[in-house]
Amino acid sequence: MTVDPAFRVGEVDPRLYGSFVEHMGRCVYTGIYEPGHPTADENGFRRDTAELVRELGAPIVRYPGGNFVSGYRWEDGIGPVGERPTRLDLAWRSLETNHVGIGEFMTWARTVGVEPMMAVNLGTRGIDAARSLVEYCNLPGGTYWSDLRGGDPYGIKTWCLGNELDGPWQIGHKTATEYARLALETAKAMRQVDPSIELVACGSSGRQMPTFGSWEATVLGETYDAVDYVSMHGYYQQHGDDRDSFLACATDMDHFIDEVVATADHVRAVGRHSKKINISFDEWNVWYQSRFAGETNLEIEEAPHLIEDVYSVTDAVVVGNLLISLLRHADRVKIGCQAQLVNVIATIMTEPGGAAWRQASFHPYALTTRYGRGTVLQPAITAPMHETARHGEVPLLDAVAVQSDAGVVVFAVNRSQTEPMTLDVDLRALPALSQAAHTVIADDDPDAVNTVQEPDRVTPRSLDDPKVDGGRLQVVLPALSWNMIRIS
Ligand code: AHR
Repeated sequence: MTVDPAFRVGEVDPRLYGSFVEHMGRCVYTGIYEPGHPTADENGFRRDTAELVRELGAPIVRYPGGNFVSGYRWEDGIGPVGERPTRLDLAWRSLETNHVGIGEFMTWARTVGVEPMMAVNLGTRGIDAARSLVEYCNLPGGTYWSDLRGGDPYGIKTWCLGNELDGPWQIGHKTATEYARLALETAKAMRQVDPSIELVACGSSGRQMPTFGSWEATVLGETYDAVDYVSMHGYYQQHGDDRDSFLACATDMDHFIDEVVATADHVRAVGRHSKKINISFDEWNVWYQSRFAGETNLEIEEAPHLIEDVYSVTDAVVVGNLLISLLRHADRVKIGCQAQLVNVIATIMTEPGGAAWRQASFHPYALTTRYGRGTVLQPAITAPMHETARHGEVPLLDAVAVQSDAGVVVFAVNRSQTEPMTLDVDLRALPALSQAAHTVIADDDPDAVNTVQEPDRVTPRSLDDPKVDGGRLQVVLPALSWNMIRIS
């Protein structure tokens, strides 16, 4: 691998490391919020969860959905908590008490130091509810909705125009043309309330969607001047025992991003637009969706246990690799939200009334968030290839480098399940670099997981410091591993 400052991709927008809190399962209730929990603060938020959220380091959190937002009345979540209605949430067939609404979420966001990214309901609602919400959140006062809020404006900058409206499962599912018109008119009204906001139009719910490609072209064809980003969602899992394909799924993310960028730039050319539409990859993760597929007729419950996937070392390596893919596209992917933050396909798990702990996937995410800041450099790589059933021939090594004043950090994944790999890094273009530290996520048992009984079974380990000699560094990447090599 050759790392050279000339191979510049772009600056990392810190929002690339975002997360997602949906009113789904136990993400909000018994996840971030649990009055009566031994660690609850005066507002009912769990301090143990909050501490882990701060450690994770996500700078922006998308809220309140997800599929949930497409049936949500945000007005149910304001005013005295005791007077708020309990509603049936159709997305997850759950009881929504509305004890947490936008005001509570903002209090929590300030406590943990994250910026909110707000989604509006374009499933069952539309222009009026969306522009009222912007008025409620962002105007200083002197109008009906802003006076109801009271206190300082929330100043929410980034807004999603609905969620996954291309999906037949979505409440208020639309054709691309139907969505595009509604998104455009809603965007215009929201911006008339607050011209400083940034807007994300819904892209496809996944690369496998039958309308993928034409959906983006139609939506951006209509909304191009009114929006700033198009969204992408992507979830990955191991199918059967095909671990090699799973370990290579970041190649699918790479192709998906390239295709959305190409589509957005096609619309740009056709419409003679000058600005570029960037990407908000606002839902991504490992999600064992096939396990959830049977659960279509859920019991109606409050804060049910929903999609509480437990992540292994292998899953953590894949999460690290997906982050490498996002970084590689830092010139166009400006926002990323790992779905989700707590309990629901999450990096952080909690027990009601009990402990909070880090999943294995917490670690590559927290380390990349912390050290992957600066300018992304695409290394020139020559690596052995191998054949996978789902993605064809892929390299066994995937890597990216990030340069900052502190030096260069290389994030690298060895996709071989059996063989360690010796990585030679040519650093001659960066002669000031002289020392290195190697952190790894790998295990003799690639299925090892963290649990409430054993919360630190999977943690990052430091290996022997590699030597930098004559502008070259050599380091051994264990089989099936995610690696961070900090060179200064
Ligand atoms: O993150 C879980 C769900 O996945 C979200 O609610 C939805 O947007 C997506 O399909």
